[in-house]
Amino acid sequence: MIKIAERNSIKNGQSKQFEINNKKITVFNIEENYYALDSLCVHQDRPITNGKITNNIIECPSHSWHYDIKTGKLLDYLNNIKLTTYNVKNTKNGIYIDIEA
Ligand code: FES
Repeated sequence: MIKIAERNSIKNGQSKQFEINNKKITVFNIEENYYALDSLCVHQDRPITNGKITNNIIECPSHSWHYDIKTGKLLDYLNNIKLTTYNVKNTKNGIYIDIEA
């Protein structure tokens, strides 16, 4: 796992984008549980990071496609499409993501 941010630096209900190994990854804090997805929407490769979050759904800010934050699954238009997910932990030493350095 690699450290990406200080502990508690992403507030509940918020998301933040990181660039790790040349990949854009968005980390979400949903009720103090942390999730991470590839940032780029499958529609037109724009980042989902600053989209509206409702419960565990993120709405892409560009054209309103929706993804389940917990699974990465696209919820409209196309079947069996998902963004890659990563394990994330908020520990006393910081926020860590499970990805090869
Ligand atoms: S780029 Fe996300 S909905 Fe179009």
